Amino acid sequence: MASEFTCRGPRQSDVAGLLDMMSGEGVLHGLTLLPHMGERELGSILAHQRNRRWIVAADGEHVAGYATLEWGEGRWRRSGKFGMAVADGYVRRGVGILLVGEIIRLGFRHLDLQRIELEVYADNAAACTLYERMGFEYEGLKRRVSFRDGAYIDGYSMAILNPGVQVEHVKAPRTLHQLLADAGSRAA
Ligand SMILES: CC(C)(COP(=O)(O)OP(=O)(O)OC[C@H]1O[C@@H](n2cnc3c(N)ncnc32)[C@H](O)[C@@H]1OP(=O)(O)O)[C@@H](O)C(=O)NCCC(=O)NCCS
Repeated sequence: MASEFTCRGPRQSDVAGLLDMMSGEGVLHGLTLLPHMGERELGSILAHQRNRRWIVAADGEHVAGYATLEWGEGRWRRSGKFGMAVADGYVRRGVGILLVGEIIRLGFRHLDLQRIELEVYADNAAACTLYERMGFEYEGLKRRVSFRDGAYIDGYSMAILNPGVQVEHVKAPRTLHQLLADAGSRAA
């Protein structure tokens, strides 16, 4: 079934919507964000595009959620990290599934990553269930990984590996021989 939400890159006009969602109680509880992010801070995070993609899930002009994928360089080139959040008013409407699916497609089908990993608070049952459902597996427990609202909190590391499905090979329509022959006849 087609989603009522659209995935696209972030726009300048999304900044206010992103800031609003990042101040939501549920979002702050699930993310490692410090409360009260400002426009300038978000602007500089969004501007940092090297080895990173932001995806916004939009409901028309409204920001329903976002996800980010970052990947490494050199020997880390095939490894990606992702994070996401869905605005408090949009949870349980399929935005999470849509965004994780888009991140997996971007990572495996466009970047040829071999693994995509994430960290999730151990008490975030909603996110853990979503990631398990999308094929992520637990790789470790990180103790006291963060301090949130007066308490230390453990986290899980999870990852999904590229299943290595047959990657299509879009072949050149002409052989090298044909290309040279065509170029020769054009020159004649
Ligand atoms: C966790 C989060 C991303 C889920 O997004 P969502 O858009 O609500 O998820 P979806 O509607 O796509 O749900 C997909 C599936 O995930 C699971 N799920 C989602 N929310 C759940 C909840 N509260 N309890 C149990 N399972 C849940 C279910 O299996 C659900 O499928 P179903 O609705 O058919 O049962 C969202 O709640 C969120 O952003 N929370 C705050 C920020 C955060 O925690 N980010 C993740 C940091 S690691």
